[in-house]
Amino acid sequence: MSNIVVVGTQWGDEGKGKVVDLLTAGVEFVVRFQGGNNAGHTLEVDDRQFIFHIIPSGILYEDKKCLIGNGLVVDPEVLLEEMEGLKKAGITVGPERLSLSEKAHMIMPYHRALDLAREAAKGKDKIGTTGRGIGPCYEDKITRSGIRAVDLTEPDVLEEKIRTNLQEKNFLLEKFLGASPLEAEPILDHYLAMGKTLAPYITDVSVELDQGVKAGKSILFEGAQGTHLDIDHGTYPFVTSSNPVASTACSGAGVGPNQIHHVLGIVKAYTTRVGAGPFVTELNDETGDFIQETGKEFGATTGRRRRCGWLDLVVVGDSVRLNGLDSMAITKLDVLTGLETLKICTGYEVDGQMVHQRPASLGKTEQCKPVYKEMPGWKEDITGAREKKDLPQAAVDYLSAIEEITGVPISIISVGPNRIETIVVKLPGS
Ligand code: IMP
Repeated sequence: MSNIVVVGTQWGDEGKGKVVDLLTAGVEFVVRFQGGNNAGHTLEVDDRQFIFHIIPSGILYEDKKCLIGNGLVVDPEVLLEEMEGLKKAGITVGPERLSLSEKAHMIMPYHRALDLAREAAKGKDKIGTTGRGIGPCYEDKITRSGIRAVDLTEPDVLEEKIRTNLQEKNFLLEKFLGASPLEAEPILDHYLAMGKTLAPYITDVSVELDQGVKAGKSILFEGAQGTHLDIDHGTYPFVTSSNPVASTACSGAGVGPNQIHHVLGIVKAYTTRVGAGPFVTELNDETGDFIQETGKEFGATTGRRRRCGWLDLVVVGDSVRLNGLDSMAITKLDVLTGLETLKICTGYEVDGQMVHQRPASLGKTEQCKPVYKEMPGWKEDITGAREKKDLPQAAVDYLSAIEEITGVPISIISVGPNRIETIVVKLPGS
């Protein structure tokens, strides 16, 4: 199979985990390239539910190699907990199955403390972060004071970095944010101990992938979050601190652009977002409640209730361009079953004009009014559909409208949470 990048086209939580799981069967490597444990992939396999925050979900396949790329910020405590949880579920996670890039940045306790204290200080203007220390860790990467996985294996380097960083972080925490300072020794001891356990897993992921490609193996690049949470292209400042767009697969895993053969965008059949920020098609009514409850729209990482709304093809259209989508996977189509009328947002009206791209200005985006195409819904249970022809005509029409408006073919349709509840129109990259 070809090398495929899977990205979210909305605000994350599009159901990437299930599609990644499906495509994993055809590859040898599954690699994550950005984000951290702000992500949460929920997978249902044979009535068992697995939630992954940092380890690629490909770990459920015994013969696959999972890799955590240099573009991630990794909380080693969460990584070790996740490895332990998998072991308890009978899934072996040794270095032959999992690699951690030596260049990935480590989330430290002061990153979590700063994330929480800053959000508290912002009050009503908070971003609604996951509180996992993601932003502060990426900040340190950019200011060149970050701690990388390789540093966990070099005690002198680690000690020097923790002490230097704490001088500044404690000043901020105590004097500016009114939070408690942290001590260096316990952090150093804890991170050194975790470094010992993780040492066999810490490798050069870029070299490993290169060797694999040369041996004819294929790679699945597993994106986290979604395009509209992208630090450059998202609804700034209500975004995450990484670039979830497809091109990051290259810089965040250490491969060249010529290694990407297919970009698959995951599109939830409606829209959700957690955290604050503009959401033009949000439904604050009983239809929104219906979607939230039927779709079980609670965050896998924080348990927060997700905001719900109609499918917004301005949002998806931006993602088509920003990611260079080759095909789309439509997820959670079954959640819409039972709604009398469905609406698809095809443009925004702002200042008396129609626009088809989300404005960069936050104020302007908040003024945007959705322009909808209305379509009839369907009442039939579609979870048993395994081919497109098994779907009611109204569902087929809904999908056709998405393809027509975005200009991108649909390769996969998910009609339920389980692995088998899927229609594969054309296997991406085949
Ligand atoms: P952070 O990534 O924790 O800094 O949070 C920044 C914003 O991104 C918040 O609105 C979060 O709710 C959102 N966010 C981060 N990760 C995810 C995700 O995996 N799915 C959906 N939203 C996310």
